[in-house]
Amino acid sequence: MPTTSDIRDLSAGAQAAIAAAADLRALEELRVRYLGRKGALTEKLKSIGALAAEERRAYGRQLNQLKKEIQRQLQNRRAALQEDERAAGIARDAVDVTLPGRGAAPGGVHPVSRTLARMEEIFVRLGFAVADGPELEDDFHNFTALNIPPGHPARAMHDTFYAHPPSCGLLLRTHTSPVQVRYMQNHKPPLRVIAPGRVYRCDSDLTHTPMFHQVEGLVVDEDTSFADLKGVLVHFARAFFERDLEVRFRPSFFPFTEPSAEVDISCVFCRKGCRVCGHSGWLEVLGCGMVHPAVLGHVNIDSERFLGYAFGMGVERLAMLRYGVDDLRVFFDNDLSFLRRFR
Ligand code: DAH
Repeated sequence: MPTTSDIRDLSAGAQAAIAAAADLRALEELRVRYLGRKGALTEKLKSIGALAAEERRAYGRQLNQLKKEIQRQLQNRRAALQEDERAAGIARDAVDVTLPGRGAAPGGVHPVSRTLARMEEIFVRLGFAVADGPELEDDFHNFTALNIPPGHPARAMHDTFYAHPPSCGLLLRTHTSPVQVRYMQNHKPPLRVIAPGRVYRCDSDLTHTPMFHQVEGLVVDEDTSFADLKGVLVHFARAFFERDLEVRFRPSFFPFTEPSAEVDISCVFCRKGCRVCGHSGWLEVLGCGMVHPAVLGHVNIDSERFLGYAFGMGVERLAMLRYGVDDLRVFFDNDLSFLRRFR
């Protein structure tokens, strides 16, 4: 039978335990321990059925009061624990806004890519298509079809990167001219195309890197001429450098063109001669010529009916002149203090 002191003990025990509950799970265990179906208080409430009527009323009231009291304490403690948890979560997720930021590091287009884009834009406006070819090229496209004979220095091991084993006949293309051949194999004239891309040579000094870029040009038509070639290149040089440059053509030799010429522009840095132009007032910028009939023959284009002209130029060379850079290698050093100037 419950007694007043039982109730007091129960009340004191529950109050102490609830106040000491460390977290919500411990609190839930206490609720079950006191108020659950087999809880201490529930058991007591069940037992009062055996009491005499007026005792039952007195104890019943006390027990019910105690039940309400325990419920109230549980609720208060639950609210307090939830608040603690919330505060701890906020503290855990807090961002220290006083820390210095990492800062945004906006990228930029590399000066070589920028120059390529600029060159393409000028030629596309003149009606040229843009073609692409493999960087791992075969001997036929890189040399033979371009009328480059065995024994030509470009074929030497010390000038060209050959793939292993040598019998595979593959090499890193030494120029973009093989794209001329591939394009003529896959398209019927009239043709008007440029081929920008990477090329490779065993070379490394102030003005040479083992990998660099070229833009090749090819026009094949029934009715074209050296005069057209001159017109296109003079326009290109003036558009690229945005000034009224002088352009001169010097007779030269390339196995795949006849006649061939090297093209100079008046120095973009001086009028009378400086270190860059070797005190000549002229800068050599590209090679060109009329496509050799033997080259047309290799791709089954009738050289009696069609004429072609071609040109090839170094992209880094033009970028150096345009941006006033005097060491080619800086383009490939990944030095951010240099590259940042091209953002
Ligand atoms: N392929 C030559 C080189 O890499 C450049 C060149 C010269 C390309 C004359 C041409 C050309 O198309 O007609 O040195």
